[in-house]
Amino acid sequence: MHNKEEAYKLSSPGEHKKYYDKWSGKYDEEFVESENYKYPEKISKIFMNLAEFRHSPIADIGCGTGVLGEEFIDMDMVLDGYDISIGMLAEAKKKKVYRNLFECDITEENVLPTSEYGGVISCGTFTFGHLGPEYLVRVIQMLNEGGLGVIGINKAHYLSKNFDEEIKLLESTGKIYNVKIFEELIYSDRKTDEDKNIKDDEVSNILTFFSSSA
Ligand SMILES: C[S@@+](CC[C@H](N)C(=O)[O-])C[C@H]1O[C@@H](n2cnc3c(N)ncnc32)[C@H](O)[C@@H]1O
Repeated sequence: MHNKEEAYKLSSPGEHKKYYDKWSGKYDEEFVESENYKYPEKISKIFMNLAEFRHSPIADIGCGTGVLGEEFIDMDMVLDGYDISIGMLAEAKKKKVYRNLFECDITEENVLPTSEYGGVISCGTFTFGHLGPEYLVRVIQMLNEGGLGVIGINKAHYLSKNFDEEIKLLESTGKIYNVKIFEELIYSDRKTDEDKNIKDDEVSNILTFFSSSA
C-alpha cells in the first residue's frame, strides 16, 4: 500500500519511477481518499484566487494521477501535466483534464520547456525524498513574464532544506516578485492554528509568486 513514510525515503529518480508505477492504480483509493488528502483543493483555491485569464495554460509539476488537475475541471483553464512515472500519467490521462501529459525527470537538465506557461502548480512533489529547493528555478523558467506560480512545499522539508534561502535569492535576483507563503494542512479541512499538536510534515508552506523576465 502507498504510504507517505515510504515515499519520503525514496532517494533517486529511478526509485520514484518504480515506486509510483507500482502504486499508480491504487493511489487515489489508498492514499487520496483514505488519508483525507485536502492538498489539491487548497492549492487550486489559492491559484484561482490569484489568477487571471492570462495565467493559462498551466503546467502541473509532478502531476501524478491528476488529483490537482481535477480541481480545475470546471475552470476555464488549460492544463499540461509533467511526471516521471508512466503509471501515474496513465491514471491522469483517464481523468481527461490535461491537454498534454509529459513523462520526464525534473532532476535532469533541459527537460522542461521555457517561457511556455501562464501558470505553474505543484502538489506533493516538493517534499522529502522528492524535489529540493534547487529545482524551483526550473519551474519558474517555464513561465511567461508575469506568470503565476503556486507551489506546495511540505513544511518540514521546507525547513530542513532551507527553502527560504533559495526563495530569497530568486527574489533578490529579480526572477520572482510578490512572494507569499500560505500555511495549510495537507490532510485536513482545518486551519493550522486550530490545533497546536500538528506536526510540520502535515503542513504545507504553499509558495505563491509572479515571474519576471530577469
Ligand atoms: C506524492 S506524489 C504527488 C502527485 C500529485 N501531485 C498529488 O498531489 O497527488 C509525487 C509525484 O512526483 C513524481 N515525481 C517524483 N520525482 C520526480 C521527478 N524527479 N521528476 C518528475 N516527477 C517526479 C512522482 O512520480 C509522483 O507522481
